[in-house]
Amino acid sequence: MTDTLTIRRPDDWHLHFRDGDVMRGVVPYTARQFARAIVMPNLSPPITTSEMARAYRDRIVAAVPNGIDFTPLMTCYLTDTTDADDLARGASEGVFTAAKLYPANATTNSAHGISDVERIYPVLERMEAEDIVLCVHGEVTDDDIDVFDREAEFIARHLRPIAKAFPKLRIVFEHITTKDAIDFVMEMGENVAATITPQHLHINRNAMLVGGIQPHNYCLPVAKREIHRLALRKAATSGAPKFFLGTDSAPHLRHAKESACGCAGIFNAPHALESYLEVFDDENALDRFEGFASVHGPAFYKLPANETQITLKRRDCAVTASLDLTNEEIVPFHAGQTLRWRLVSADG
Ligand code: DOR
Ligand code: ZN
Repeated sequence: MTDTLTIRRPDDWHLHFRDGDVMRGVVPYTARQFARAIVMPNLSPPITTSEMARAYRDRIVAAVPNGIDFTPLMTCYLTDTTDADDLARGASEGVFTAAKLYPANATTNSAHGISDVERIYPVLERMEAEDIVLCVHGEVTDDDIDVFDREAEFIARHLRPIAKAFPKLRIVFEHITTKDAIDFVMEMGENVAATITPQHLHINRNAMLVGGIQPHNYCLPVAKREIHRLALRKAATSGAPKFFLGTDSAPHLRHAKESACGCAGIFNAPHALESYLEVFDDENALDRFEGFASVHGPAFYKLPANETQITLKRRDCAVTASLDLTNEEIVPFHAGQTLRWRLVSADG
């Protein structure tokens, strides 16, 4: 049995840091494990210009603990009025690594998102020409579409048409939750890939709804039926370069989750790697973990893979019930559980 795993240092290709005290509290958890992270722009107000992204990046960098090498990769929040020139300039100057499409009101802080996907076709055309990656929150928001069907419906109504209209546009279908999404990504060319979160590999929708409402297992897109979770585990551990690590770690304070109208988002940053690795272990795919965590993502984003290494060992890893950040608690994913692997060294 393999008890020690040393791999290239991973990156997180989808992450929420927030801002201010919460951001300063959560950055160290990610920087301890990952060399880089794609930072989501859904702040309030959202990061819509290269100037805002530059300033936000500086604030994140200032929160990285001394001696840790961590690079935030910034994204531009697309709106109905995105300035394509500023986006292109930001990308060419290395401020923006990608742009994020949120359908308006699909999720947390998405009120300024796209009201009608076709309206931003000119921006997508420019992104295709400039080879800027498009990250997509793939859910429709129509009242008459069941929340469990919103991802599949988004593929049919919007993602397939986008991929057809812009055949060279690099698209990351973020935090996929269904077999429909896996099938779509596999059917498309190399320019279409997907991130998969730890929670969607570990839980199905029962974890949210059985035994009382479980707000800490609520995120968007919501976890689906077991058949989808099993398909996601197969895809993530398959070795296919189209699938890579993106935690979607999304901190919300305990009181905002445990509320009559609880926020969507699971804070998985503290033990993200250990959480993923348990899945690869259970699927007898430890040899494929490095590809998913450290190789497929950089290859898709046309960035070099990290040269430094990390080591994980088969050792109990107790996850605390809650973390005290800024005098307010945040409940992490796997709270109170014991994971079977532990990150022991961040430099090999
Ligand atoms: O669960 C989620 N939380 N899904 C998202 O798309 C956004 C995120 C957040 O920002 O809290
Ligand atoms: Zn997200």
